[in-house]
Amino acid sequence: MTVTPISAGKGRVLIVGATGFIGQFIAEASLAAGRTTYVLVRPGPGGPSKAKNVKALQDKGAIILHGLIKDKQFVEKILKEREIDIVISAVGGENILDQLNLIDAIKTVGTVKRFLPSEFGHDVDRADPVEPGLNMYRTKRRVRRLVEESGIPYTYICCNSIASWPYYDNTHPSEVVPPLDYFQIYGDGSVKAYFVAGTDIGKFTIKTLDDIRTLNKSVHFRPTCNLYNMNELASLWEKKIGKTLPRVTVTENDLLAAAAANCIPQSIVASFTHDIFIKGCQINFTIDGPQDVEVSTLYPDEAFRTLDDCFDDYLVKIDGKPMKTGDVASPSPVAEPMKTGEVAAPSPVAEPMPITATCA
Ligand SMILES: NC(=O)c1ccc[n+]([C@@H]2O[C@H](COP(=O)([O-])OP(=O)(O)OC[C@H]3O[C@@H](n4cnc5c(N)ncnc54)[C@H](OP(=O)(O)O)[C@@H]3O)[C@@H](O)[C@H]2O)c1
Repeated sequence: MTVTPISAGKGRVLIVGATGFIGQFIAEASLAAGRTTYVLVRPGPGGPSKAKNVKALQDKGAIILHGLIKDKQFVEKILKEREIDIVISAVGGENILDQLNLIDAIKTVGTVKRFLPSEFGHDVDRADPVEPGLNMYRTKRRVRRLVEESGIPYTYICCNSIASWPYYDNTHPSEVVPPLDYFQIYGDGSVKAYFVAGTDIGKFTIKTLDDIRTLNKSVHFRPTCNLYNMNELASLWEKKIGKTLPRVTVTENDLLAAAAANCIPQSIVASFTHDIFIKGCQINFTIDGPQDVEVSTLYPDEAFRTLDDCFDDYLVKIDGKPMKTGDVASPSPVAEPMKTGEVAAPSPVAEPMPITATCA
């Protein structure tokens, strides 16, 4: 497929999944960059938070289109009529294969200059989590292979972990404050990972869109300022709340057991947690392949928001007002330290996202 290059900063963007967790950051960054931004919203009930998200994007200038990516004819029509240059998909884990029709439509129309499939995590060709995480990666790999076979110009965003306390059983951990009673430390807590603010996932994703250096490449996010292991993460939070908390070990076997329970989606998160904090999937390879680029190297003058800074947001969430270092977090339940190997649900003060879990 041959397509003409995009003139810098002018490509018209269509975002699928913009009402979702990651998609919102991307849509907001696209609008902030002054791009013409179309947002494809699934019709049907989505609850008040979806309606609120759509309205917020519309208020910022997004053009809302209603439809499904499974409807190939509909997608072809909007790609042609709206002269879409770039398609970004941020559909959730359970809808990854819905992108097959989207890819088919992009191939048929033949005018899209860049496609970013729903990735926004690890390099799925390199990472090798246990099941059920592996199954999600197989679907993402299948999407990659179809994109490549179709000759569609692409970029894969491998942004690593969202900046937050990495609860092993919550799909959207950044919406939950770090622990206030005790820390659950995975293994010996020494394996490092990269933590990236959602706003930076959005900002740098948009920067790659018409950058020739990211064409048909995986873009890895490795901000050195945000490379932390679990013990360092715990110390950072202790400094913020001004007190030390007990540290409980969650062993490799505990994580494997949580993954093997096959409760979806928590077990998927447990398998990724095992891959990150036991196996070191974010740091056990070098970015030197012909298909790899690193985002800080591409944009050395653009700063990343530090994890230290992101943790300040959680202090505000605790009390509804900023806390100074040394203030005692409230409420501050004193939890009994648990024995090594015991696993309990963390006790965040903010409600985690509702998860509809099914156990197979
Ligand atoms: N790096 C990280 O830490 C991290 C964290 C979370 C997710 N991720 C990755 O980011 C990606 C997005 O996940 P997410 O958690 O943000 O997803 P999400 O919150 O579940 O949102 C998914 C979005 O896709 C839309 N959608 C799903 N199927 C669709 C279809 N057939 N047609 C049109 N729209 C459709 C949903 O619309 P409705 O509103 O209608 O449902 C929603 O807007 C995934 O690849 C995931 O693995 C990475």
